[in-house]
Amino acid sequence: MKIIVTGGAGFIGSNFVHYVYRERPDWHITVLDALTYAGNRANLEGLDPSRVTFIEGNITDAELVDKLVAEHDAVVHYAAESHNDNSLKNPRPFLDTNIIGTYTILEAVRKHGKRLHHISTDEVYGDLELDDPNRFTENTPYNPSSPYSSTKAGSDLLVRAWVRSFGVQATISNCSNNYGPYQHVEKFIPRQVTEILEGRRPKLYGTGENVRDWIHTEDHSSAVLTILEKGAIGETYLIGADGEKDNKSVVELILTEMGKGADEYDHVNDRPGHDMRYAIDSTKLRTELGWMPKFTDFEAGLKSTIDWYTANESWWKPQKAETEAKYAK
Ligand code: NAD
Ligand code: TYD
Repeated sequence: MKIIVTGGAGFIGSNFVHYVYRERPDWHITVLDALTYAGNRANLEGLDPSRVTFIEGNITDAELVDKLVAEHDAVVHYAAESHNDNSLKNPRPFLDTNIIGTYTILEAVRKHGKRLHHISTDEVYGDLELDDPNRFTENTPYNPSSPYSSTKAGSDLLVRAWVRSFGVQATISNCSNNYGPYQHVEKFIPRQVTEILEGRRPKLYGTGENVRDWIHTEDHSSAVLTILEKGAIGETYLIGADGEKDNKSVVELILTEMGKGADEYDHVNDRPGHDMRYAIDSTKLRTELGWMPKFTDFEAGLKSTIDWYTANESWWKPQKAETEAKYAK
């Protein structure tokens, strides 16, 4: 099996590359990544170059994508502009990568008759009220709030249309918030951990009541591999590990774990259009494909993630000042 992993130098994509490298020793992986501010070659260090090929290139480059797709069996498509706050400041790259990039991949897999698995987010469904007894399912109507989530929703709909109109062999997964090693310091958990490591106080948007449904990135990887191998063509699968936590509790846990007082954080201006709650019902994936998450102890996973950032300062330091300068603007 020869697969292309787009966005394989980013957070979740690189974790998937490491996972497949371990779990499928006879597969060859080609990473296609443009190395934007979010991509980092260091995320792929230590992998045997005879089993993992790195190509620096853009998913909107139709000629390059066409050539690579022709030479492989399947594409696992992670590449995206992925951060809501960036999308509120400058939406354009989100349209280019998330919409045109996905379109470019679809045209190549259509032409060459190759398998595609498209990675998406639960944010396409909009948000839930805090007291809503329901969670997102595969049948929840799309209702995205931000430029990020609306371009991801657009990319999902393109995939569905290419399946229906052109018979493309694709599956889609929508996952909840990931945490773990190699996550860019612009995101919530690594930002707070590295703020504390640099001697500053964590920053909670608004009241901090907002709820995210946390999943360890390795559980996301095992789910994607399961869908790639066993998923039914044309189907969408929601990926989640029953990890709902409000932001305030997460910050308090991080502070306590790092030896600080649980109240040593600041409330800052809220994000415009801030989604209140995400929550995933992953029954379909569990019952139809037999997948189960393994890292369901959030406190233990958070502790190992804090340990990783503490031990890998040289990995995050180069991104940190630039990221905080962006936030300060
Ligand atoms: P990330 O920002 O850490 O990584 C994105 C990667 O894509 C980077 O390596 C970047 O260089 C690359 N990239 C960006 N534009 C590109 C382009 N035009 N051509 C080629 N490569 C390009 O993102 P992430 O958090 O790892 O998210 C990966 C995927 O998972 C995205 O599709 C995202 O929507 C989805 N997702 C993320 C989460 C989450 O919690 N972060 C949850 C659910 C789904
Ligand atoms: P984030 O990691 O940006 O993911 P998403 O927007 O995709 O959910 O943010 C997770 C939650 O944390 C979200 O409710 C916004 C909040 N947040 C803060 O409170 N402070 C911060 O500094 C950041 C970056 C996020």
